[in-house]
Formats: sequence, C-alpha cells, structure tokens
Amino acid sequence: MRILVTGGCGFIGSEIVRRGLDAGHDVANIDALTYSANPSNLERVEHSEHYHFSHTNICDAQGVRALIADFKPEAVIHAAAESHVDRSIDGPLEFVTTNVTGTAVMLSEVEAYWRQLPDADRERFRFLHISTDEVFGALGPEGAFTEDTPYAPNSPYSASKASSDMLVRSWFKTYGLPTLISNCSNNYGPYQFPEKLIPVVILNAIRGHDIPVYGRGKNVRDWLHVSDHVGAIFTMLATGRPGETYAVGGGTEVSNIDLVRQICTLLDELKPAKTRYSEQVKFVTDRPGHDFRYAIDASKIEAELGWTPAHDFRSGLRDTVVWYLENLDWCQAAVDKVGQAEKLERLGVRA
Ligand SMILES: NC(=O)c1ccc[n+]([C@@H]2O[C@H](COP(=O)([O-])OP(=O)(O)OC[C@H]3O[C@@H](n4cnc5c(N)ncnc54)[C@H](O)[C@@H]3O)[C@@H](O)[C@H]2O)c1
Repeated sequence: MRILVTGGCGFIGSEIVRRGLDAGHDVANIDALTYSANPSNLERVEHSEHYHFSHTNICDAQGVRALIADFKPEAVIHAAAESHVDRSIDGPLEFVTTNVTGTAVMLSEVEAYWRQLPDADRERFRFLHISTDEVFGALGPEGAFTEDTPYAPNSPYSASKASSDMLVRSWFKTYGLPTLISNCSNNYGPYQFPEKLIPVVILNAIRGHDIPVYGRGKNVRDWLHVSDHVGAIFTMLATGRPGETYAVGGGTEVSNIDLVRQICTLLDELKPAKTRYSEQVKFVTDRPGHDFRYAIDASKIEAELGWTPAHDFRSGLRDTVVWYLENLDWCQAAVDKVGQAEKLERLGVRA
C-alpha cells in the first residue's frame, strides 16, 4: 500500500512510519517539524527508496494537495497534532490551528483526491484519524470509556481533539469518505518527547533533580505500549469498518504516584545512586482541570478485529526505562531544541 502519514517524525508517527516500511508499504510523511518532531527517530529507515518526506504544515492546503497528487496514497494515517496538555493550557490557539483547522484541511484535500479515484480504489481507501481517550473527560473510581461514552473534554488539548473527531465523523456522514477513528489511552515507549510523564521522571531522577508529581499523584491512567497502539492502527486499517471509532487501551490502570514509584525502583536497580530515587519525589500544585481517571474498555476492537496488546506493562516499562538510559543524547538533543533548562521546567501554569 501507499500510506500517507502525518506527523511521522513524532513519537507515535515515527513508530507508524518504521512499522509501515518494515511491512513493505510505501510511506510518505508530512511533518511540519515542530518542537516535538525528531527526524532522527527515522534514521534507520530514512534512506529507504520506499520512504518519502515532505516538510509541510497540514494547514497548508496547497502543500498537502501537491504531495497527495504526487504520492497518490491508498490510505492516510493522520497523527500530526499538538499533543501536550500542559502546553495547551499556556497556548491554546496553536492547538485549535493544528488540531482543528489542520484536520479540516487534511479531510478536505484527501476527500477531493478520493472523490476522483476509480470505484474500486475509492472503495478500498481509508482515512484513519488518531485521537485520544481524553475527549471523554474524566471518570470517577469506577467504569471505563467505550465508543458510546459522550464527549466531555476538559482541556484545550482534548477539546481540540474532540473537535477534530467531530470533523472526521462529518466527512464520513456528509461526503462518504471512508474514515476510522482510534480513541487511545496514554502511550509509552521509546522516542517520546521528554516533556511527558515517563521520560520526565527518568531524566529528572538520574540528574538528581526533584521528580514533580501533580497533586497527590492519585490520578489514574491506562497505559498502552506505543507499538501495541500502532498494531491496533494497522489492524483497523486492514479490517476496521469505515465510519467506526475504536477505543484502544492496554487494560493497565496505574495511578501516577505508583507509576513514578515503579520507575524509581527500576532506576534503583539499573542505575543505582547513593540514595533511593523515590526520595526525590516532590508533590507540586495540580494541573488545572486535571482529569481524575481514564480507563478504556477495548472489547469492541478485541471482539470485532481480533486485536489485543502484546506487551505486558511490567516488562514494557522496564524496556522503556532501559531505552531512555541508553539514549540520553537523544533526550538532551530534544530538550536543547526547545531551549529548556537542564531541569525540565514546569509548563501549563497560566491558568
Ligand atoms: N502520546 C500519547 O499518549 C497519545 C495517546 C493517544 C492519542 N495520541 C494522539 O496521537 C497523535 C500523535 O501523538 P504523539 O504523542 O506522537 O505526538 P508528538 O507531539 O510526539 O508528535 C506530533 C508530530 O506532529 C507534527 N506536527 C505538529 N503540528 C503539525 C502541523 N501543523 N503540520 C504537520 N505536522 C505537525 C510534529 O512536528 C510531530 O512530529 C496525536 O494526534 C495525539 O493526539 C497520543
């Protein structure tokens, strides 16, 4: 297949590009190379004759149109987004521009191209939009999100993703574009920009800084290894029903403080320091609008498409900690790019 990926230099997008090329597909990657992009994530595959890169912003309709006309995709996987909740609190409009307007541009340009394809190609075509479970808002101590959970986003990030989901839905209902949506829980794994919880904990811990935990660390997340999420995406592309959304999760609920303690214990073993890393934990003022709990009921994608996660959290987390310890240069280069101090600064304090 010829697959057009947006945001392919980011955390999840680069896993999609690598996986797509490994599976024998032709992959074109549109990426604006924002602060969270890291082209070195694709070092292993960037010279493949099956890989094409376009430094293009998804809001640039003409640029997107030219790339589509040239590459002639058979499927689009839309991963490009502003993705960090704390940044959305400090600067929400960028989130609306990329996540809402950018998605509308992608839909509009892809639909114009798709419309003129021969019948059989139009039938086979797919537009897969990667979204998040955060669009559903916060859960109490019980229950889990399903595809039928009403949307109730609480941050500018999740509101912009919810808006993009609505646009995707409307392009299916109005124009018949064969769309799919994945609403996925928190991803972890290699190549995640070091401002997200797991790399922040690892980097602050080994540098001897405070390990910041929002509130009392009681917020619960359902963690899924990035390669399992990407496995779900390729499964949806192959066998998902157009117009459907699929909730994707790892069935691994962990409170933030438990996660931080697990990472500290792994670091005690893998990179022992004079004192236990957990002594560096510092509770800080909670994130405004911080959702209490996310959990995913993934029974639809499991039953209909036969997808299940392959990683168990314990070994997946261990491999992830090892990866960051072995790739400190990668982390430093990413942090340097955004001009962050060596100690990762707190974001999202404007509210
Ligand atoms: N990371 C998670 O835990 C998670 C969970 C569920 C869903 N998602 C969704 O998955 C997608 C990818 O997330 P991620 O964590 O890999 O993000 P990321 O921040 O690591 O990567 C985003 C990529 O998109 C690119 N990009 C941003 N704005 C762009 C624009 N206007 N035009 C073109 N490219 C642009 C960036 O340069 C970067 O390469 C997002 O849509 C996010 O909402 C993420």
